[in-house]
Amino acid sequence: MTKRISIGLVVVVFALVVLTWLFRVPSVTSQPIETSEASVQRGAYLINAGGCISCHEGQETEGLSGGMALASEFGTFYAPNITPDRDTGIGGWEAKDFLLALKHGRGPEGQFYFPAFPYRAYAGMTDQDVLDIGAYLLSLEPVANRVPPHEIPVWLQRWMLAGWNVMADLTGDATPVLSEDPEVLRGAYLARNLGHCGECHTPRNGLGIPMLDQEFAGATLGESHADAIDAEGLLNWSADDFAFFLFLGMKEDGEYIGGEMESVIEHNTAMLTEEDRNALAAFFKRPR
Ligand code: HEC
Ligand code: HEC
Repeated sequence: MTKRISIGLVVVVFALVVLTWLFRVPSVTSQPIETSEASVQRGAYLINAGGCISCHEGQETEGLSGGMALASEFGTFYAPNITPDRDTGIGGWEAKDFLLALKHGRGPEGQFYFPAFPYRAYAGMTDQDVLDIGAYLLSLEPVANRVPPHEIPVWLQRWMLAGWNVMADLTGDATPVLSEDPEVLRGAYLARNLGHCGECHTPRNGLGIPMLDQEFAGATLGESHADAIDAEGLLNWSADDFAFFLFLGMKEDGEYIGGEMESVIEHNTAMLTEEDRNALAAFFKRPR
């Protein structure tokens, strides 16, 4: 009897330890947000490099006030208002809130975000870049706009993302970039982290987790298909073709791109410096 009780106790304690670990809120530095003009300007650039506008642009209201419906096989998610409005946006957010959201997919109260928000790509951002983004967002004009609640099945609950994140961690990392060329490394940061190109171009498993061993091998998104942009997919592209495409949306065969990629060009890659577009090209066309 006592043996049974002690085994039961061990099981309960073990379960509690696992649960505490799964739901723990990561510790992030609580340095204050720099509000210098330089920081705000860097943030404005990073908002472009991060492709934030493609999802958070206000649909009926100004600025980054949200409301865009993002359809996925798990339901329809509405991009929130990320202007500093106190009631309907992110007014009052501090440095730690931005770090938790962008690098860990967690809200100010520790709640889990759905990966319709590409926080797993942004997780690789530097803290400084995240804080500059925060400085920029807090400098914006607050816009009151309450976005609709997500339309998702009742079984899909935020706490489940605790397990999903662990499974995503276990599916393995992308191949390390074996290069010491600073241009290639900058390109990798822009592509894998800020620009989150893999969110659309990397195939996913049944749980919606990107299969990073097939990074950029192409993926189907609803009715559209994001082409392969790995070494094989870009065989006929020169680095110059690629950089030019990121600026104008004209492919190596002279055709203009459509679909969701149009918004990526418009709000992200066309807004970058030529240096950064060349860095993206250097990464995708790196010698392998
Ligand atoms: C592919 C679309 C998409 C992109 C790109 C995107 N987001 Fe989001 N974002 C979302 C969605 C959807 C949510 C809500 C997730 C949820 O409710 O769980 C969200 C949530 C957020 C939140 C939390 C807001 C709150 O009220 O809790 C912040 C802050 C945020 N995004 C900032 C950004 C920034 C900064 C960028 C660019 C670096 C960005 N997002 C890029 C879709 C996107
Ligand atoms: C929101 C989803 C999405 C994101 C993010 C995205 N793409 Fe795309 N991309 C697409 C889709 C969809 C197509 C195909 C469009 C079409 O042909 O109508 C495409 C096409 C392309 C093509 C043309 C390939 C060919 O062979 O025709 C290139 C190159 C490309 N994307 C590069 C990138 C890069 C680099 C990034 C990151 C900076 C990126 N994409 C981010 C969805 C995305």
